[in-house]
Amino acid sequence: MQIIKVTSNKKQYLPLLLLADEEEAMIDRYLERGIMYVLEDGDVKAECLVTNEGDGILEIKSLATLPQFQRRGYAKVLINFIEAKYKERFKILQVGTGDSPATVPFYQKLGFIRSHIIKNFFTDNYSHPIYDGGILLTDMVYLRKRL
Ligand SMILES: CC(C)(COP(=O)(O)OP(=O)(O)OC[C@H]1O[C@@H](n2cnc3c(N)ncnc32)[C@H](O)[C@@H]1OP(=O)(O)O)[C@@H](O)C(=O)NCCC(=O)NCCS
Repeated sequence: MQIIKVTSNKKQYLPLLLLADEEEAMIDRYLERGIMYVLEDGDVKAECLVTNEGDGILEIKSLATLPQFQRRGYAKVLINFIEAKYKERFKILQVGTGDSPATVPFYQKLGFIRSHIIKNFFTDNYSHPIYDGGILLTDMVYLRKRL
């Protein structure tokens, strides 16, 4: 297993990016300034993108494991890698996600704690209704972990 930094043609991983954020126009808002990593175990199995949000905050903008390889620990390996790599340079690792049983319990399991919400983020910013884990997403929920 290895984790590789992607420095060019990040859109080659669009199918993975779209798993985490299904509207490409929203991905385009952070793709260029984000630092992207892919986890290879044979082939690419998972992907993650992080951005510097200032004030010592590093944000996970995209994290996805191919559906047929979920629940095998790949995303956990990526988060552990990010934490180890950035803990000297950042104070907080945060993520914004829909209030969904498909994502929030995953981050809580890894030690993230609910921090704040952006009301109506999904209904205000996306061109169509977004469902995750059978839930219509409205607010963006932020979870944080101290590095
Ligand atoms: C969320 C996601 C990235 C998790 O990836 P994964 O590779 O399946 O996660 P892991 O196997 O590393 O799981 C780590 C731990 O969280 C647990 N977990 C994963 N998903 C969970 C869920 N929905 N509810 C509860 N626990 C969950 C795992 O059981 C595992 O627990 P363990 O350490 O005790 O074994 C994956 O489901 C995914 O790609 N979803 C679609 C894209 C997406 O929504 N991304 C998040 C955008 S914010």
